[in-house]
Amino acid sequence: MGHKIKKIRMRLNKITVEKDAFNLNKQTNFSSGSRSIWRETHSRVNVSEIIGRDRDRDMIVKRLLCPDADKNPFIVSIVGIGGMGKTALAKLVCNDERVKLHFDSRIWVCASEEFDPKIILQKIIKSATQESTIVQSIHLLELEQLQAKLQELLQDNKFLLVLDDVWSNIRGQWRELRDLLTGATIGSSVIMTTRSSEVTSAGGSCYDHKLKGFSCQQLGELPKWLHKLLRLKILAIVGCDGISTLPDGIQDLTALKLLRISDCSELGGRCRPNGPDWHKIAHIPNIEIDGEQIVAS
Ligand SMILES: Nc1ncnc2c1ncn2[C@@H]1O[C@H](COP(=O)(O)OP(=O)(O)OP(=O)(O)O)[C@@H](O)[C@H]1O
Ligand SMILES: [Mg+2]
Repeated sequence: MGHKIKKIRMRLNKITVEKDAFNLNKQTNFSSGSRSIWRETHSRVNVSEIIGRDRDRDMIVKRLLCPDADKNPFIVSIVGIGGMGKTALAKLVCNDERVKLHFDSRIWVCASEEFDPKIILQKIIKSATQESTIVQSIHLLELEQLQAKLQELLQDNKFLLVLDDVWSNIRGQWRELRDLLTGATIGSSVIMTTRSSEVTSAGGSCYDHKLKGFSCQQLGELPKWLHKLLRLKILAIVGCDGISTLPDGIQDLTALKLLRISDCSELGGRCRPNGPDWHKIAHIPNIEIDGEQIVAS
């Protein structure tokens, strides 16, 4: 009986560590007002920080460079669950050298807010023009004037428009937006990112790229920027046979409370107290290797 209670206590302690590390006692308020500000995105990316998405990027770039001739604009969707890396992938594509060469302009619009074609049009024009007078007066323009401005900006201009984080599956709104983009220079394309395939279907997507998690087997090392994650509290490395050693920078992660390594053939052995990587992780209070709690000898 005493043994069982001890085991339960140990499990509860472990849960407490994980709960604190994930801030599970805090509530996050997703009111519609704060959501759009929090979710607002931009096109910049440090390409070297995005790992394991080269194949996905190449598949999308290939489609953009050879779009279906009868689809104008050609619409590509990146679909996947929240946090899977849709926006990150759209940024990778948008910043790819082949894409930069192929399109005359690249326009990034964060569509998290209401998907009103007029608002989207205003955002497209704002993103496509450098003229501050237009940007300042844009909210005064009627749809007809906006449409004329857009035609002027996009004339003889093969563009790539990224609509990031789209939620609308209202076909009427999409039809109106597509109508506004009709007459675009041949080869112009739209990339939308969304969590829902209902949205891609309403949007008339020509190619859905379903984004999935990638296998850790492909990883040869942990990302170089790991040492920057100074507030990281839990790190789990699972099924990464290709990772044979931890980066030195892990010593800087002083907030790390739990390191869990499992099914990594070489790494587990190196991270035990007599192993060559132990000095990098000795400061972490809870270390688990293949389910075993490790204590310094
Ligand atoms: N392949 C990757 N390598 C490194 N970091 C990544 C990768 N994919 C995504 N991330 C990071 O994970 C976080 C979530 O990614 P992202 O915002 O792209 O997800 P999402 O699918 O667009 O989510 P949402 O549905 O909420 O918009 C970001 O901080 C992003 O930089
Ligand atoms: Mg996103």
